[in-house]
Amino acid sequence: MANDTHVLDSPPPGARPDWTISQNWGAYTAEEHATWDTLFARQAKLLPGRASNAWLKGLDVLRLDRPGIPDFEQLSDRLEKLTGWRVVAVPGLVPDDVFFDHMANRRFVAGNFIRRPDQLDYLQEPDVFHDVFGHVPMLADPVFADYLAAYGRGGQRALGLDALKYLGRLYWYTVEFGLIAEPEGLRIYGSGIVSSYAESRFALDDPSPNRIMLDLARVMRTEYRIDDFQQNYFVIPSVDELLRLTVETDFAPLYEQLKQQPDIPVAQIEPGDEVLTHGTQEYARSKTS
Ligand code: PHE
Ligand code: FE
Repeated sequence: MANDTHVLDSPPPGARPDWTISQNWGAYTAEEHATWDTLFARQAKLLPGRASNAWLKGLDVLRLDRPGIPDFEQLSDRLEKLTGWRVVAVPGLVPDDVFFDHMANRRFVAGNFIRRPDQLDYLQEPDVFHDVFGHVPMLADPVFADYLAAYGRGGQRALGLDALKYLGRLYWYTVEFGLIAEPEGLRIYGSGIVSSYAESRFALDDPSPNRIMLDLARVMRTEYRIDDFQQNYFVIPSVDELLRLTVETDFAPLYEQLKQQPDIPVAQIEPGDEVLTHGTQEYARSKTS
């Protein structure tokens, strides 16, 4: 995510002025490639029938099933032909304006490091598995590709309107943790879910979380958790509808309205919600008691 607090204010030594670095693909060890392969094999088995058609198609057309950590240059050449996006490496978190500038110009910033073998299930910082396996397949979808570029421009605008808190929640509940209602049933398109072994089951199958149809203002008012599974998932009817809704709405007056309203706590159901699952919240409760 972009809106994090511990970022530097100028590029670290070795980084370019736009904060990118070389992926340094040749420096990955055999063990690091093997970690990718282990994570890949686990998820690839789980995701047919769970991940959205767009994500599954992206994985296929980008040939992400080849062994080892993908080379960003090769991957970008394939991706650019489809939707104009490229993948660039950055040294961890970058400032919001840098993040949005890359995004608005169809450059997806990715970490180049991979988690250690003892961190297969959980890690707070986005590594190359989350960033590439989780995010990049959706970027092969032309409509989603347009959504994320529009989001980058929206981010630049939100910075000037002091509204990043609201826009960041939209990212969280769509790009990172979104669900989509496909004709065959609910599917995952959020990168934080597809890259997680446990959450890719929890998000669809567990009775604990709420599953609610996405409403822009509602989502932008809703808090989220970064330390555990989500207590709310928001569902889009289609990627076309997500793009239409976000591009056709002028967020400036919406932000002004939201600034007058209270935030919504993570598990709360609101009067206007179109609820698909009213969650038991059993999982979250089991963690606190
Ligand atoms: N329509 C938004 C605005 O007026 C921009 C945006 C588009 C934001 C798509 C997110 C996604 O700021
Ligand atoms: Fe992410």
